[in-house]
Amino acid sequence: MILLETEALTRAYGGVVAVNKVDFVVESGLITGLIGPNGAGKTTLFNNMTGLDVPSSGKVFFNKKNITGLPAHTICRMGIARTFQNIRLFKELTVVENVMIGRHFKTGKSETKGRFLNAINSYVHMKQEEEQIYEKACDWLDFFGMASMKNELAKNLPYGRQRELEIARALATDPKLLFLDEPAAGMNPQETDHLMATIRKIRDLDITVVLIEHDMKLVMNICDTITVLNYGQKLAQGTPREIKHNPSVIEAYLGKEEE
Ligand SMILES: Nc1ncnc2c1ncn2[C@@H]1O[C@H](COP(=O)(O)OP(=O)(O)OP(=O)(O)O)[C@@H](O)[C@H]1O
Ligand SMILES: [Mg+2]
Repeated sequence: MILLETEALTRAYGGVVAVNKVDFVVESGLITGLIGPNGAGKTTLFNNMTGLDVPSSGKVFFNKKNITGLPAHTICRMGIARTFQNIRLFKELTVVENVMIGRHFKTGKSETKGRFLNAINSYVHMKQEEEQIYEKACDWLDFFGMASMKNELAKNLPYGRQRELEIARALATDPKLLFLDEPAAGMNPQETDHLMATIRKIRDLDITVVLIEHDMKLVMNICDTITVLNYGQKLAQGTPREIKHNPSVIEAYLGKEEE
């Protein structure tokens, strides 16, 4: 089943056409890779599907609903979450607080309006809600094997764990679809292996994953399907095997494999 789809999505910045009439398809339940040279338009495509940027033309459909141009928080509440190419943690907050922020983003705090009793009721409700948010955040940390680190400051975690913490925060919004922008960037091989296992576990929770990545070992190992962008255009789409042997992909990005 198609979960997300773009139709001739285009984003131009002045004369630079960063994304050029791209038809991108995400099948529910699969891990989809998005690859291509630097500047190919991968992050721009992500931004235009998640409400961080508005397409110049073309459309985005999620669950068959037209979500083109909707603001990021609306798209998030519909069930799409993401991480960023550069780490965006609250480094002076604890690990668990970082995850709780994701959850708050999803639930949104209702304003306390009106009378005193209402205010007290809201306060009690808020406390209960806060506890639930805390519990839920701890569950996610458990899932990542990070429960023992929950009270550490985010900045004190090893690099690979900081990147996984961002994923935990995105998952705290309860997405159906998760976009990861270069999750393995800067990781050592052990951290990358751990990340691969984590992404598979996320897929097993019935969360559809789309990832941008330059680490070809990771991409070829865990993706069910791969789309290749080059100069803003879709160059190819297929299984890892098909992509690995596609002459135009080899020419534009992968290079010739050494014998
Ligand atoms: N806000 C912007 N204003 C102007 N040009 C932009 C903007 N954002 C992206 N671009 C340009 O659009 C093109 C695509 O950039 P994008 O960041 O999407 O590439 P990418 O495939 O994610 O590359 P990388 O692998 O290096 O992250 C580049 O030429 C970039 O300079
Ligand atoms: Mg990018």
